[in-house]
Amino acid sequence: MSPALLNRQWEETMPAVPTLKTLFLPVLLAMSACSPQQADPASPEGQRQALFNQFLQHSEPMGGMLQGRLAFDGPAFAQHAEQLVQLADVPWTHFSAPDSENPQPNQALPAVWSDAEGFTARIAQYQSAVAALQQITAQGVDAPEQVASAMQTVQQACKACHDGYRR
Ligand code: HEC
Repeated sequence: MSPALLNRQWEETMPAVPTLKTLFLPVLLAMSACSPQQADPASPEGQRQALFNQFLQHSEPMGGMLQGRLAFDGPAFAQHAEQLVQLADVPWTHFSAPDSENPQPNQALPAVWSDAEGFTARIAQYQSAVAALQQITAQGVDAPEQVASAMQTVQQACKACHDGYRR
């Protein structure tokens, strides 16, 4: 295609762009206004979701250090483990039965309530995995090998619960 022809085609398509933009912009705005639904931070859903996000804020860099995405920093790893222990008791107090008067976006499966015993067992599994990890980190860590297996057990405990109790 000659440059002149290309140029002409460009000029022909240009006016179409603002038209498309004006057409789609309101649609995009409407989507962003209602799509990422947030639970009311004061609701049980909002409170537990904030706590689970803190779980992630600590476990994510720990995983990163073990996968080599982040430089291994023993004291930082130990601090994250300490925080996971501190947090391991808290989200569960925010699982009161869903309030049909005030529904909030959430990903908890009904099994949390219909299989309360199984859910409690997953909580216990997670808490003991975190405690075992902290027993190691409390001694001081300087190599990933010292904590890799205990951290894997923690991550498996997150996943085991999500598999059965989270959408
Ligand atoms: C005993 C069960 C259980 C364990 C253990 C558990 N979770 Fe969850 N997690 C849930 C449930 C249930 C939800 C859905 C909560 C909701 O939507 O209200 C959830 C939601 C989350 C969310 C989404 C929060 C949001 O903003 O909606 C993240 C992130 C998360 N968990 C991370 C973790 C990590 C990381 C671990 C381990 C370090 C972990 N969870 C351990 C049950 C568990």
